[in-house]
Amino acid sequence: MSHIELKDVGKTYRLGANTVTALHDFSVEIESGEFAVILGPSGSGKTTFLNILGGLEQATRGEVCVDGELISALPEAKLTNYRRRKVGFVFQFFNLLPTLSALENVMLTAEMGDGQGGDPKQYLERVGLGNRMDHYPGQLSGGQQQRVAVARALAKKPALVLADEPTGSLDIQTGIEVLDVMRTLNRETGQTFVLVTHNAVIAQMADRVVRVGNGEVHRVERNAHPLEPRQLSW
Ligand SMILES: Nc1ncnc2c1ncn2[C@@H]1O[C@H](COP(=O)(O)OP(=O)(O)O)[C@@H](O)[C@H]1O
Ligand SMILES: [Mg+2]
Repeated sequence: MSHIELKDVGKTYRLGANTVTALHDFSVEIESGEFAVILGPSGSGKTTFLNILGGLEQATRGEVCVDGELISALPEAKLTNYRRRKVGFVFQFFNLLPTLSALENVMLTAEMGDGQGGDPKQYLERVGLGNRMDHYPGQLSGGQQQRVAVARALAKKPALVLADEPTGSLDIQTGIEVLDVMRTLNRETGQTFVLVTHNAVIAQMADRVVRVGNGEVHRVERNAHPLEPRQLSW
């Protein structure tokens, strides 16, 4: 449900007297409903790209357009509004609030989105955690915590789901389960998913693979026959 277009996006950070260029001329298009994987080595600008797309940071130059809305031109308050309304995030280290139960973590975001927001319990059931709703993050395994995070991202019905190395701190089997949940939800809801990773295996499950290096897009491939997450082998 979200068409994405970046044109000549640049991002420069200032560190004292030095400047670091994280993105040079980053241009890419992602179609609505796709499961896209951005693949590149550490330091290639993946997180920077995702944060700009999600409205957590502003580009230094270039255009970022989501569903016809030029988010690179939005002032801070409107950018925050865009992020709340439209974007669900999944991070490498889950980022759950430790003093809230799984259910409370999901409830926090369920009412923030564009739509009416989903039933938090139903989302936890869909990620296979119907029997863990009252557990605190510390009482859940890494894979379970990440599935709570997926439920949390999805419960506000965002048009766009952004995942930054979501399997990066999980073992292989658990990672596959998390990817499987994300892929299933992507197909059910038609939400656009953008996942960034350094792991080439994961790219095989994508509808679109965007290869990046050094803050630039090197190659884009459309994959007509993506593998199911359970078919991936490391
Ligand atoms: N807040 C920041 N301040 C300064 N440099 C940064 C900042 N964030 C990222 N960078 C630099 O930008 C480059 C790309 O970083 P990043 O987007 O995190 O890459 P990746 O996620 O692919 O590992 C790196 O050289 C990194 O050191
Ligand atoms: Mg990163």
